[in-house]
Amino acid sequence: GALVEQNFTVGTQSVTRLCNQQNIVTVNGQFPGPILSVSEGDNVVVHVQNNSPYNLTLHWHGVRQLRSCWADGPAYVSQCPITPGNTFTYNFTITGQEGTLWWHAHISYLRATVHGALAISPRAGNAYPFPTPDAEIPIILSEWWDANVEDVIADAIRTGGVPNDSDAFTINGQPGDFFPCSTNDTTRILIEAGKTYLLRIVNAAMIHAHFFKIAQHNMTVVAVDAVYTKQYETDVLVIQPGNTMDVLLTASQQSGLYYMGARVYFSQPQNGQFVNITTTAILQYNGSSSSSSSPILPDLPPFNDTPTAFKFSTDLRSLRPSVPQTVDQEMFITEGFGLVSCPNNSCAGINGSRAVGSLNNISYVDPDIAILQAYYSGIDGVFTRDFPDNPPVVFNYTGNVPVSLWEPELGTRVKVLKFNSSVQIVFQNTRIITIENHPIHLHGHDFYVVGQGFGNYNSQTDPANFNLVDPQMLNTVGVPTGGWAAIRFQANNPGAWLLHCHFDSHSALGFDMVFITEDGPGNSDTLPPPPLDLPQC
Ligand code: C2O
Repeated sequence: GALVEQNFTVGTQSVTRLCNQQNIVTVNGQFPGPILSVSEGDNVVVHVQNNSPYNLTLHWHGVRQLRSCWADGPAYVSQCPITPGNTFTYNFTITGQEGTLWWHAHISYLRATVHGALAISPRAGNAYPFPTPDAEIPIILSEWWDANVEDVIADAIRTGGVPNDSDAFTINGQPGDFFPCSTNDTTRILIEAGKTYLLRIVNAAMIHAHFFKIAQHNMTVVAVDAVYTKQYETDVLVIQPGNTMDVLLTASQQSGLYYMGARVYFSQPQNGQFVNITTTAILQYNGSSSSSSSPILPDLPPFNDTPTAFKFSTDLRSLRPSVPQTVDQEMFITEGFGLVSCPNNSCAGINGSRAVGSLNNISYVDPDIAILQAYYSGIDGVFTRDFPDNPPVVFNYTGNVPVSLWEPELGTRVKVLKFNSSVQIVFQNTRIITIENHPIHLHGHDFYVVGQGFGNYNSQTDPANFNLVDPQMLNTVGVPTGGWAAIRFQANNPGAWLLHCHFDSHSALGFDMVFITEDGPGNSDTLPPPPLDLPQC
């Protein structure tokens, strides 16, 4: 591979959306941030200069980081933050991954504006497993807050409430024609009849899964999370926050203007705010003038169309599967919210309590120094190694769960995995406080989604229906609302790896846990020493 070296200068930038001016944090002054275009096998070196007033880390979402956990980026897991005025160089190699991934800030709420696509082409001499597209089109789905996003999360944490919703959804940084003060800046994409385009789609939204459609055009999914799929033709995509999709679009019309639109997939109405507003960009055929007619709108599913979401995610199949057939380590992890009591019932949550995210009833607390640094240097007292393999109590998770059953404990507990062990985790969605799907993301590994279903997982009967032949491999799985998902992966990557809900509000409230994968026996199976410029706390 080649060496791809970039400078990322992080600073604040004045930007106007929805008639409101806001100073946002950007990389190289761009929103969304620059596209990092590389080939499989390349060595990527990104020099980050933090000129923003905030502590910062960057994460390369979905990059396997084989033997390079130090470059992974989640704050207080693989590194301490880059403080204002300081620098850090991320250095990693893209090994065996092709398609689209992305990068984003991984601390507080900065990823709302600090994010961009990571486009990975096959290395020279290798071809895509589909006809080479005529051109590539990046599509970044995101959200916009009129307020300063660092205030939004700080207020929620201070009061014990949940962060305010965003004020718009965006495609490539623009809300589109259905949001106030936005029409003049709607994203326009010029295409030519008959050509085929590779859409590189990233859902960078902070809290929302999206349906995505293009009026009068079908799409063919060819990769998800930089893992090739069997070609899957569809008129609608369902994209969880964290997921990336490579999709072929053939310009099958002769002329005209067509909206591409995204709208939330949400299992229950939340404030009702966004339920029917579509963020749009315009596909404009060569030779059709911008004003010739109004664009045709796609007919998006209703916000709570769980059957469509479930069908899409269970239809996907890996093109080149290699599923672990045996399991060394089994875990069953409940996921959902819980309430922690506050002194004098003074918090902003239900009955004066504080809402926290939890996994197996443990709500994750950031340590003061990075877990990987503490592990590598043998520093005690930073974390404990007792993250449980099972929830503390068994009950009907998807019934009407009494909140009193479930007061999460706070802690920084990790689960240690033996090198190269084959791990199966069943995530059970619970209906405590909220009914919603949770996109669970694992750092440093891709996993096969071997089963998904509704209701309580049944360990006697459900495994018989697992797909151990060609399930899709992902790095982020939307665990169905009121249901479960089973994943398998090989713990073949030494380091400390965060697992969390990719709704940032949930992750910020403790919906996280950490795996430590031990070194293997061979010299090439061990984590190298930390880079010399690794930030210290
Ligand atoms: Cu996309 Cu832990 O992140």
